[in-house]
Amino acid sequence: MVESRGQALQRRRAVYRRRRAWAAVIAVVLLALLGFGLYAGLKTWGLLPSGQDAEGSESAELSGNNSDDDLASPAGSSAAAAEPEPEPTPEPEPEPEPEPEPEPERASDPSWDPDSIHVLVNRQNPFDPVDYAPTDLVVPDVPHYGPEAAMSLRQEPAAALEELIATGRQEGMALGLVSGYRSFDYQFQIYWARHAEVGTEATDLYMSRPGYSEHQTGLAADVISIENPDCMLGECFADTPEGQWVAENAHRFGFIIRYLEDMEHITGYPYEPWHLRYVGVETATEVFELGLTLEEYWEQPAAPDYDDAEPTYP
Ligand code: DAL
Ligand code: ZN
Repeated sequence: MVESRGQALQRRRAVYRRRRAWAAVIAVVLLALLGFGLYAGLKTWGLLPSGQDAEGSESAELSGNNSDDDLASPAGSSAAAAEPEPEPTPEPEPEPEPEPEPEPERASDPSWDPDSIHVLVNRQNPFDPVDYAPTDLVVPDVPHYGPEAAMSLRQEPAAALEELIATGRQEGMALGLVSGYRSFDYQFQIYWARHAEVGTEATDLYMSRPGYSEHQTGLAADVISIENPDCMLGECFADTPEGQWVAENAHRFGFIIRYLEDMEHITGYPYEPWHLRYVGVETATEVFELGLTLEEYWEQPAAPDYDDAEPTYP
C-alpha cells in the first residue's frame, strides 16, 4: 500500500517526537549521574563543607570563642544557633591590704630602773628612789682631774671609758675624766652652792637639780682635752681634736653625747659636748647614726623643764 504524503509526514513526526523524548530522558539521567558524581567527589575530597561545620564555625565566629564546648553543641540545634550568652565580667579580686611594714627594732627601750644602763633620767624623770646609788662603782684607770668623790663609774662604763681613752691615746688624743658618778648628796651640795651665787635660772642652765642628774646613774662621764684646759666643761671642747674625736668615736665604746647642740627644747640642756652617757655599743651606735637625742630615740616626751619652777630645798 502506497503511503500518502500526509501519512508519511505524520509518521516521521511521531518518530521524531519519540526520539526527542528518549533524548530528554537520557539527558536527565546523565545530568543526574554527573551531579551525583560531582557531589560525591567534592565530598570525598573535603571540598564541600557540611552543614554542621558551617554552623559551628559561624557560631564560633559570633561568640569569638572556639572552645571545645562550642564544638560539642549539636549541629543545627537552637542552642548552637542562639546568640551566645555573654560571659559575666569577673569581679576584680580585691587588692589585698598591704602588710604594714614592721617597725624596725631598736637596740633598746627606755627603762626607769636606775640599775639599767638604759635608764632615762631628765627633768621629767627623776630618780626613784631619789637618793639611788649604784653598787658596782669603781675608779677607772684613766687620767683624771677633780675630786675623788666624783671620779668613779659603774664597772661596765668604767671599762668602756678606759678603752675609749686608751684608743684615743693611740690616735694622738689626750683625754681625761673630770666628773663621773655624783651621789645625790654631792649633787645637792654643788647645786645649792652655785644656786647661792647665781640663782635658779643660771644654775638650772647647766646643772641638774639633785635627784635629776645623769651623773647619779654612774653611767655619765665629763671628759676634757688635757692639752686644752680652757675648754674644760665649755662648748669649745667640741672644737678641740679630742672633742672632735670623741664626737666621732664615742659610740664605738658605748657612749653618746647626751646633750646635743640646739636640742635643749628636748633634753633641757644646752650643748654639752663633754658629757658622755653610757648606753652600750648597740644603742650608742644607733643613736649616733640617727643623730638623735635619747628622748627622740626612745620616743619619749621632751623634757625641757622641771614641773616646779623653783627647786625645793628640804
Ligand atoms: N651637767 C649635767 C646636765 C648635770 O649636772 O647632770
Ligand atoms: Zn656631765
